[in-house]
Amino acid sequence: MNGPRRFAITGTDTDVGKTVFAAGLAAHLGARYWKPVQAGLDGETDSETVARLSGGKALVLPEAYRLNTPCSPHAAARIDGVTIDPARLTLPDGDGPLVVEGAGGVLVPFGADANGGLLAADLFACWGLPVVLVARTALGTINHTLLSLEALRARGVAVLGVAFSGHAEPVAEEAIPRIGAVRHLGRLPHLDPLTAENLRAAFAAQIDLKAFA
Ligand SMILES: Nc1ncnc2c1ncn2[C@@H]1O[C@H](COP(=O)(O)OP(=O)(O)O)[C@@H](O)[C@H]1O
Ligand SMILES: [Mg+2]
Repeated sequence: MNGPRRFAITGTDTDVGKTVFAAGLAAHLGARYWKPVQAGLDGETDSETVARLSGGKALVLPEAYRLNTPCSPHAAARIDGVTIDPARLTLPDGDGPLVVEGAGGVLVPFGADANGGLLAADLFACWGLPVVLVARTALGTINHTLLSLEALRARGVAVLGVAFSGHAEPVAEEAIPRIGAVRHLGRLPHLDPLTAENLRAAFAAQIDLKAFA
């Protein structure tokens, strides 16, 4: 791959491990990390998690929107009385590797009602970045992952591959790449404790680094 290595990270759902994967990737690449819309400000934000889990190797950019409520960006914006301006969701300027994390899954609404039904996958299509789809290995993942792949491709989004999160699940890990015609980018096992050093080592050992070269 020529040019700057820039990737968008999405997932089959919320809480599937997007932020942990993004932290591992950003640390590996020495990349900038950008979370365009942070919905939910109680506890650690995704940007703060990436700063911690990348062991200082990622440069965390400020979010375009910081919304109070942990729900879809369109609803969190409405609660805060904020209108999400798609112009503020354009990729940050600057050279070098970039890792962008979406919110929730592929068809999560970002636009306020006033600017239509802008969905996460529409943003990925606008950005033109290859997308990593993070998927659980738990039961239900074949369906969720294949659905997400179809939705991304229907919008012309280039899918780099699927990265799994969780315990080994050979049936799902075989079926998804075959049926979905998608690259298996590796699997991050459950890390205990989840530390920057454990994540760095697991990422290097378990993830297909050539896909990001
Ligand atoms: N490989 C992993 N090992 C241990 N815990 C993990 C791992 N991946 C995710 N988690 C935990 O699971 C939860 C959800 O992960 P996160 O990356 O924040 O998901 P998402 O960004 O998809 O919402 C967090 O509490 C996170 O610490
Ligand atoms: Mg996240």
